[in-house]
Amino acid sequence: MSVQSVTHAVNVRLGDDENSIVVLDQTLLPNETKYLTLTTAEAMWEAIYKLRVRGAPCIGIFAAYAMAVLSKGISAPDYDGFYAEFTRLSDYLNSSRPTAVNLGGMLRRMDGVVQAHKDAPRETLLAALMREAKAIHEEDMAMCRKISEYGLSLLHDGDGVITHCNAGPLATSRYGTAQGPFYLAKEQGVNIHVWVDETRPLLQGARLTSYELTKAGVPCTLICDNMASIVMKQGKVQAVFFGCDRIARNGDVANKIGSSGLAILANYYGIPVYSLGPSTTIDFSCPDGDHIPIELRDPEEIKTLHYEKAMALPEVECFNPAFDVTDHSLLAGIVTERGIVRAPFEENFRKLFPEAMGA
Ligand code: MRU
Repeated sequence: MSVQSVTHAVNVRLGDDENSIVVLDQTLLPNETKYLTLTTAEAMWEAIYKLRVRGAPCIGIFAAYAMAVLSKGISAPDYDGFYAEFTRLSDYLNSSRPTAVNLGGMLRRMDGVVQAHKDAPRETLLAALMREAKAIHEEDMAMCRKISEYGLSLLHDGDGVITHCNAGPLATSRYGTAQGPFYLAKEQGVNIHVWVDETRPLLQGARLTSYELTKAGVPCTLICDNMASIVMKQGKVQAVFFGCDRIARNGDVANKIGSSGLAILANYYGIPVYSLGPSTTIDFSCPDGDHIPIELRDPEEIKTLHYEKAMALPEVECFNPAFDVTDHSLLAGIVTERGIVRAPFEENFRKLFPEAMGA
């Protein structure tokens, strides 16, 4: 397979009739490639909740298409009735997962389009929503490409990099964020070896990242999460790259559970840690990581989901947070589409994103 067949693979798209969304069901990978056609709000909510579509940018893009499609089915004749139903559907989709800020962010952007077309004919409003969803998708492609370029500029031929979860093309649109530099490296003949954390409990690293990298021909080795220390100690890793689900103004980063432990380990060994993500994942209204909501998921994901037989008694209590927060002090930098932000993060975010940070 070519690199492009992976970096440009379709994970989310509008149905041909533009009345549905077609998604690659990521829960079935790497064993089955199956696309689902979704037409109802309930099916769309379920697809996000069950991680059929997943990854912060990807669920933002999906939610934008969802609102463009679902809005066509709103029958209220007047604007107020339309807007009430639009808001109900948007709030419903937003309730599917709490941590990735892209979901609420893109829903708010679609809301802004509706409000800007208050006095426009319904057809004009619906067309504007569809245009906005497509623009959100295209902007993400461009941002991922820039992030991949900046990320690659941090690496040298022969480096080993450890990565966590999946922040590749499946989680975004083209190339990805934290894993985008690896595909660019492959295209440009730079040798990078990727150490892939399996990422318990939902195994996004094993099922998705090692799948994508292997299909693209990027050299990689899959490890269990608790093997990161020995790999670092043996000098096999020169950098840690992971994605992000919500970045606070002070540079604290919420990402897949296990990211903060990896960052703590890397700091112990003196290995630089970078979080890579688009500005759509920065929550400019969030002061620090303590204000980031952390999703708690079904204990069955730990006890039974990926096993033939249960691996714990049914009555065993489990704690299953889907994300944790990496303190900004552990990060060498945050790689965005506008460049690499280093400490002091708040000050440097203000230089790079003045319009979003305020005075
Ligand atoms: O629960 P998931 O699989 O949606 O979690 C995804 C992650 O934590 C990714 O690292 C993050 O969303 C960045 S994706 C570019």
